[in-house]
This record gives sequence, C-alpha cells and structure tokens, in this order.
Amino acid sequence: MGYGTVSRLFHWITVAIVIVMIPVGLTMVEEVPRALQDRLFILHKGLGACFLVFILARIAWRVLNPPPPLPADLPRAQRLAASAVHLLLYALLLTMAVSGYVRVTAGGFPIELFDALGLPPAFGKNEAVAEAAKAVHATAKTVLIAAIALHLGAALYHGLVLRDGILARMWPPVGRVGPSARR
Ligand code: HEM
Ligand code: HEM
Repeated sequence: MGYGTVSRLFHWITVAIVIVMIPVGLTMVEEVPRALQDRLFILHKGLGACFLVFILARIAWRVLNPPPPLPADLPRAQRLAASAVHLLLYALLLTMAVSGYVRVTAGGFPIELFDALGLPPAFGKNEAVAEAAKAVHATAKTVLIAAIALHLGAALYHGLVLRDGILARMWPPVGRVGPSARR
C-alpha cells in the first residue's frame, strides 16, 4: 500500500524546494557578481521563509496521518534504518528553516517577500543569536546533504535493484486512484 496523495505531494514539493535551496545557498555565499548574489539571497530567504510554514504543515499532517506499514517481509534492520533516516530528514529540514529564519531576522536583515506581504519579523536584532543560528545553518546543511544522499541511494536501490514496490509507495506525486489509495 502506498502513501496518500497529500503525503506524496508534500514529499515531492519538499524535494523541488530543497533542490533549489541547496545550490542557491551554496552559490550565494561564494564570490559571485553582486547583482546575482542579491537576487539569490532574495530568492533563498523568500522561498526559505515559505518553506518554514510548509514544513510545519507537513510535520503536522504527518503526525495526524501515520504512513502505511512497510511490507512485512522487509528486514527489521532496514525498517529501523528507514524510520531513523526519515526522522533525521524531518529534523534537519525544520532545523534549516528555523535557523535560516532566525539568522536573518535576529541579524536585522530583511526577508523581502515577507515584508511585501506585511509579515513582521518574529524577533528583534540580536547579534549573538544570529551568529549561533548561522553556525547551526552551516553545520546542519552538511548533515542534510549527507542524509539526502543516503535516502536517495536507498530509494534508487529499492526502485532499480530490489524492485520491491517501496519506490512506488511514494511515486508518482499525484494520481494512482485505486483500492490502495489513501488521503
Ligand atoms: C530547506 C531550507 C533551507 C536550506 C536547505 C538552506 C540551505 C542553505 C545552504 C546550503 C546555505 C549555504 C551555507 C554555507 O555554505 O555555509 C545557506 C545559507 C544561508 N541561508 Fe539557507 N537554507 C534553508 C532555509 C533558509 C531560510 C528559511 C533562510 C532565511 C529566511 C535562509 C537564509 C540563509 C542565509 C542568510 C544564508 C547565508 C549564511 C551566512 O550568513 O553566511 N535559509 N542556506
Ligand atoms: C530533497 C530530497 C528529499 C527529502 C528531503 C526527502 C524526504 C523524505 C521523508 C522525510 C520521507 C518520509 C516520509 C514519511 O514517512 O513521512 C521520505 C520518504 C520517501 N522518499 Fe524521500 N526525500 C527526498 C528525495 C527523494 C527522492 C529523490 C526519492 C526517489 C528517488 C525519494 C523517495 C522516497 C520514498 C520511496 C519514500 C517512502 C519510503 C517508505 O515507503 O518508507 N525521496 N522522503
């Protein structure tokens, strides 16, 4: 049995956003032309702030809608590894979004998109907090990239080598209406 449409949409929209956020983040902190850097920062902060709201909604949905059970013949070690990596991914996504938001607002910098929407910063300026959040953001990104690589490897191994239907639990993002369809 597969994940429901809402869970699959949450998963694949997350992938689309993270695929933009990581390269944009890595590029904008390098020596790139100023005009490009400004655009990348505005994009990273705006999309990242939206992602903060999005990941909170995703986690709430996940708590209220536990995933379908894994096939009974999957070894216990693999089951535990999958749960551990999924939990780690959620924790890292939340950490990235929160630390990014805190780093910018406590640093006294604008989030242009939120400003345009009339959403005020949740924190006042605080250099020490901003520096701590910056360090968390930079460290968590390395762990996130490693966890995604692990997760991607496992998903492709199940999909291309084992062909045991695990990939099909999450793919495609929408559709697949049938007896196994869930919310
Ligand atoms: C999924 C969420 C996010 C991901 C994957 C992500 C990823 C990254 C990455 C890879 C970097 C480069 C860091 C480095 O090389 O040291 C970065 C930097 C940065 N990010 Fe994010 N980010 C996320 C959310 C946010 C949010 C929500 C904000 C602010 C609203 C933000 C603001 C920043 C800023 C300001 C930097 C530059 C760090 C510095 O001060 O040197 N990020 N991010
Ligand atoms: C930015 C990259 C990605 C992130 C952050 C991510 C995150 C996650 C998370 C948090 C879960 C757990 C869902 C839950 O049970 O609530 C999950 C499940 C899953 N992901 Fe990803 N994912 C990423 C990329 C991918 C890619 C590229 C694939 C396929 C090639 C993939 C395939 C799967 C599959 C098949 C599951 C379900 C596993 C199962 O049935 O237990 N993911 N992903």
